[in-house]
Amino acid sequence: MTTTSSPAGARSLLAVVLAAGKGTRMRSDLPKVLHPIAGRSMLAHVLAAVAKAGAGRLAVVVEPGRDDVAEVVAGFPGAETFPQAERLGTAHAVLAARAALASGADDVVVAFGDTPLVTAETYARLRAPLAEGAAVAVLAFEARDPAGYGRVLVEDGRVTAIREEKDASAAERRVTLSNAGLMALSGPLALGLLERIGNANAAGEYYLPDAVALAVADGHRVAVVPVDEAEAQGINDRVQLSVAEATVQARLRRNAMLSGATLVAPETVFFSHDTALGRDVVVEPHVVFGPGVVVGDGCTIHAFSHLEKATLAEGVQIGPYARLRPGAVLERGARIGNFVEVKNAAIRAGAKVNHLSYVGDAEIGAGANLGAGTITCNYDGVNKHRTVVGASAFVGSNSALVAPVTVGDGAFVGSGSVITDDVPPGTLAIGRGRQVVKAGWAKPTKR
Ligand code: UD1
Ligand code: CA
Repeated sequence: MTTTSSPAGARSLLAVVLAAGKGTRMRSDLPKVLHPIAGRSMLAHVLAAVAKAGAGRLAVVVEPGRDDVAEVVAGFPGAETFPQAERLGTAHAVLAARAALASGADDVVVAFGDTPLVTAETYARLRAPLAEGAAVAVLAFEARDPAGYGRVLVEDGRVTAIREEKDASAAERRVTLSNAGLMALSGPLALGLLERIGNANAAGEYYLPDAVALAVADGHRVAVVPVDEAEAQGINDRVQLSVAEATVQARLRRNAMLSGATLVAPETVFFSHDTALGRDVVVEPHVVFGPGVVVGDGCTIHAFSHLEKATLAEGVQIGPYARLRPGAVLERGARIGNFVEVKNAAIRAGAKVNHLSYVGDAEIGAGANLGAGTITCNYDGVNKHRTVVGASAFVGSNSALVAPVTVGDGAFVGSGSVITDDVPPGTLAIGRGRQVVKAGWAKPTKR
């Protein structure tokens, strides 16, 4: 993605992110905002989007004592948590970040931690009217079914108020222009508006959207910024979570293709938010990228491969059915074939591990070849040990390399060997039972 250039120029932006929801309909021990989409939490998606939209400070309103939520927040520069002890409504929640609001930002955007699809571009569009003098900007969409949403009331082409469903008259309920919930507020006016919001309504809650009527009453302008209904969708249950996942995957696939990767069957490839593919990468069907994968130019990922925290240099080929686990580093032109698992191991340039192998805690030298079924026995039940295979070494099929062990440069290992001692460079090691041939052995016959 490209960096969003803020239309608001050098104006400072504070994002207040409401993340105190328990999300009971998720039926989960995990707080709703920590449920992952494309390998990172919904909350992290929101924090990344507002930061990309130019927010230098992120005030995240959380349920007190949620260390797991605080940990996600701590991963973002300029982010701070503000506990909301009681859930008394969205305006009350924003005021939990009073200290941040008082610190004098030019613009404020309010985001929801459970509304993860809103892009940085949309946040930038939402704040843009503030630079032109609006006091408040609301994000809104024409709902197919507006039930449950706050309605954006417009008179003579001007926004007058937002009415929550519970408080709306029959006529107001027929309005389809719906509040997405997210809002931008002029920094100098925000606290004054928020502190005047009361709770005399059907829910007895302090409603953030009431800032609209208050701003209008003060003679300020309120802008409506349109958004796609799907983008503004909040996540309340795991069905909606799956829809959000599909949306994010579609965006990631599109980005990958527009950046020069071929996805033969894009709908079968699953990315993480941070998957980085080079130019002329080909990804065959049914490939899954976990977090932390970097793929260099010209690589081919054959079908049914699974990768996480792995780095592929240029011209690497893996799969079909390859599994790259954390710490797999494949150098230029390396080849990992079918049913091969690589973990915490460097496969140097041009090395080949083509069939049915486990390579863990190892270094396989440039141009080396591990035959079918080669296994690094890296674990003694307590500790992990390293295997080093030198450049241009050749390990025969079905060999077990019992770590810690080194096979020197250019050495050969006879197939079926169990290698427990180092093999010096340029030698041949054979570690297996000798074949016995018994002459005159007669085939048993049935009695
Ligand atoms: C809100 C809007 C509504 C809009 C809808 C869009 C209000 C009063 N209404 O309604 O106009 O159409 O979003 O989905 O704002 N939260 C807190 N603390 C609180 C209350 C809420 O952190 O005390 C957080 C929630 O976790 C959630 C967000 O604020 O992330 C929105 O709250 P929610 O109760 O879902 O508002 P809606 O009823 O959906
Ligand atoms: Ca909601």
